Amino acid sequence: MKTIIEPFRVKVVEPVKMTTRPEREAYLNEAFYNLFLLKAENVIIDLLTDSGTAAMSAGQWSALMRGDESYAGSTSFYTFEAVVRDIFGFKQVIPTHQGRAAERILFSIMCKKGSIVPNNTHFDTTRANVEYLGAEAIDLPIPEFYQPAVTHPFKGNMDTEALSQLIKRVGPERIPLVMLTVTNNSGGGQPVSMENIREVRSICSRYGLPLYLDACRFAENAYFIKLREPGYADKSVKEIAGEMFGLADGCTMSAKKDGLANIGGFLCTNDESLARQEKDLLILTEGFPTYGGLAGRDLEAIAVGLEEILHEDYLQYRFASIRYLGEHIANAGVPIVQPPGGHAIYIDARSMLPHIPALQYPGQALAIELYREAGIRSCEIGTVMHAEKHPDTGEEMPSAMDLVRLAIPHRVYMQSHIDYVVEAILEVYDRRQSIGGYRITKQPQFLRHFTAQFEPLEN
Ligand SMILES: Cc1ncc(COP(=O)(O)O)c(C=O)c1O
Repeated sequence: MKTIIEPFRVKVVEPVKMTTRPEREAYLNEAFYNLFLLKAENVIIDLLTDSGTAAMSAGQWSALMRGDESYAGSTSFYTFEAVVRDIFGFKQVIPTHQGRAAERILFSIMCKKGSIVPNNTHFDTTRANVEYLGAEAIDLPIPEFYQPAVTHPFKGNMDTEALSQLIKRVGPERIPLVMLTVTNNSGGGQPVSMENIREVRSICSRYGLPLYLDACRFAENAYFIKLREPGYADKSVKEIAGEMFGLADGCTMSAKKDGLANIGGFLCTNDESLARQEKDLLILTEGFPTYGGLAGRDLEAIAVGLEEILHEDYLQYRFASIRYLGEHIANAGVPIVQPPGGHAIYIDARSMLPHIPALQYPGQALAIELYREAGIRSCEIGTVMHAEKHPDTGEEMPSAMDLVRLAIPHRVYMQSHIDYVVEAILEVYDRRQSIGGYRITKQPQFLRHFTAQFEPLEN
């Protein structure tokens, strides 16, 4: 059969409240034009993130009942630890309440003021956790990464030449670790090839630097390798993931993505003495090392989710559905990051709305317009999120790209929802000249996109 169907069926439904355009206009006003400040019940299709928004399977719901809520030595921890060790291969597994907690613990132990952390591209919380410690987060993607229309099978790769140059320039002693984010979320959900991971590993080994993977979307990355990298077509996603992790010294993980769980994360390493320090810090803020801020039932749900994400029928369907969305809007002229990513489609808002200057936030303007048009919530990934400042003047600078991410939650939306999203984007695209920019009226010091307030400007 040519048609790739959802390889699951519905057992429980969650009604969606339909809203009118005037109602949405009022909700936007109340939320100061920040989609993070909307009430979720007023969103028709929520593509804000694929993080923690997955529909759990019957297997996961039943595993919840096995949750052992013992404070110490919970059976659920050992079940979780065995699954993580089996797939990820690291000796030390430290549960955390989500990915950023793993990041905070890792960087608190490994970084100090003046440290430099290279990454293909830091995710916003990763960057914030590095910078909070007075260290510098440096992105080293390949040049194609910054060209949305250019296709490349592994656009998430790190520029290995730039990594070598950086190490030579600043000295390996200032670099406590090198990170690779798989897939590269901040610029298109683009994969990193095994060849690239191997090259980065070899540079790290030359200078004695540990390599960590930000493994949030490890299964999607492994499936891209299977589809696109010579020599991997006959290997299972689990085998490929095992090879990826075999090249690293540890990882941070948000189980809210490829763990198919609604909460959770973990930190892994092979280094026992490092793990001891990490567990000491874990106890201070997250909890005892056999629960790390999670309930026993959460650990059970993650253990099942990590096995389910490796099902290749599911990954095949997921990629087909996301490609369908991307191709239908791109064929009508909407500029998107090419090729479509593993968990999301990213619209190039700066190209779509060239009349809106970057400092009037074209990504934010487009995201607002999709909500106004059809109640679709998406996420700006651009000048608002990155909040870059000129190093000398402190003035706000445009980010390298202004994108709008339409992230597809796992197992939540069906084909007709995706068709509705396509139709809405095309309606907005047809009247793109009428869309105006925004200005920020209030913002916090860190991670401003979550709580900043906006005001529309005259078009
Ligand atoms: C690549 C990447 N790293 C880290 C995180 C942080 O994970 P969490 O939201 O669980 O803290 C995210 C979340 O979206 C992410 O996409």
